[in-house]
Amino acid sequence: MSDTRDWHNLVITFDSDGLEVLASAASAAVESLRRPPSGPRSNWTPAALHHLVTSLEICPDEGINLNTVLAELGFVVWSHGVVPSDPACVAHLHPPTLVPAVVTELAIAASNQSMDSWDQSPAATEVELHLMRWLADLIGFPETGSGVMTSGGTASNVLAMTLARSWAAKKLGVDVLKTGLPPEAASWRILCSDQAHFSVQRAAAQLGLGRDSVTTVETTSSGAMEVAALDRVLIEMTRTGLEPIAIVATAGTTDLGAVDPLSEIAQRARRHDAWLHVDAAVAGAFLLSDRLGPALSGIELADSVTVDFHKLWWQPFNASALVIRDAERFDLLRVKSNYLDRGDELEGVVNLVGRSLDTSRRFDAAKVVATLRTLGRLALAEMLEHLVDLSRYAGSVIESHPQLELIATPTSVMCVFSAPDVSDDDLRHVQQRLLARGEMVLGRTMIKDRATLKFTFMNPLATTDDVDRLVILVASELNTL
Ligand SMILES: Cc1ncc(COP(=O)(O)O)c(C=O)c1O
Repeated sequence: MSDTRDWHNLVITFDSDGLEVLASAASAAVESLRRPPSGPRSNWTPAALHHLVTSLEICPDEGINLNTVLAELGFVVWSHGVVPSDPACVAHLHPPTLVPAVVTELAIAASNQSMDSWDQSPAATEVELHLMRWLADLIGFPETGSGVMTSGGTASNVLAMTLARSWAAKKLGVDVLKTGLPPEAASWRILCSDQAHFSVQRAAAQLGLGRDSVTTVETTSSGAMEVAALDRVLIEMTRTGLEPIAIVATAGTTDLGAVDPLSEIAQRARRHDAWLHVDAAVAGAFLLSDRLGPALSGIELADSVTVDFHKLWWQPFNASALVIRDAERFDLLRVKSNYLDRGDELEGVVNLVGRSLDTSRRFDAAKVVATLRTLGRLALAEMLEHLVDLSRYAGSVIESHPQLELIATPTSVMCVFSAPDVSDDDLRHVQQRLLARGEMVLGRTMIKDRATLKFTFMNPLATTDDVDRLVILVASELNTL
């Protein structure tokens, strides 16, 4: 057998020899990260990157030494990526990651527990359930609260809307998973603010309700849902015979980081017997902080909550959770199967496939638990508070800058701004030139039909000096227009 065909030692085993091979390959993988771009992003053009990447033969007949393959990934991919830990990488909710999570990823992959059934992940199932109970407590849910890990905020929101739809049908005595949508569904509506994440629309589209079933409610200048506007919409719906089956409140909007008035929205949801979902993908982490947590007061009144660990908990993708107030309601999506979820298991066995839209699923809970236990709540709170302070600082610098205009006072980790008398197209040029030169990954969005630029601070190592530098870079770019 040739060396290159010696695949036997590449099958993971947990004896000393197997672990030695893994440890040595892991250090080669770490080594391959040594050459990131010298800035927040590679300045290569899409065409050049296409050429570089397609020069790799995906599956040669004869395999290549692993160290060579890993080194190539370093040259070709890692050194031409983005660097979320660079202080000038400020476009998205795209965090640098933490060592405990990243090394646990290796163990997750090597041990390869599958979270669909207890017989494929006994202790791991218990860990995920333990984490979900902890999160339910943090939210303030009763003992009945629990959840499931998903691949992201979009998946968590879609899962929540799936439950809300099945719940609305159940109230009519209809099993929507079996017989599909009842005729009454034509009058079902999902309410959310005009700043809510687009995954609410996506959920409505996928669930057969259609995007038109989503009614958006106006927001204040800070980006939070306006309660008076919600009342107007609800009154109009009652008048016209439409039924609000779900209200989605956002705790931390994508652009302005605004938190909707959760308690007031909860009162309305209860009055209309609508499912209340809180999309706390962004600000869910605030619950860790004594200072920031009170902004989410009322979240405990929700029926379901989305929390994204791969945002302000600094986890590598993917890691999100949907936590619901009454875990028995997960039965609304349960489809039994002969080979996995038979319903005749040993006492105490939970097959998490019954809570999920996935079947096979990664043990992402492990990295979250490793992170929480290693850093502890207070350190995580400190990191978050620093980022909120940083965005407030950016707000104050921009507010006093002659060329820039602050769009809203920052309350989270984002700072959205514009430049008076600069056209939308010119703002786009500023963002794209900084991106093309690899100097800054700057956010660009629309707030109430106005083109804006956006900093999203995700790197807890960033400083006020970094913010000053970013503002100077944007202003100098504006000067070149
Ligand atoms: C408020 C909110 N909800 C949901 C999502 C979707 O999260 P994901 O990208 O993990 O699917 C985002 C993404 O930024 C978000 O900002």
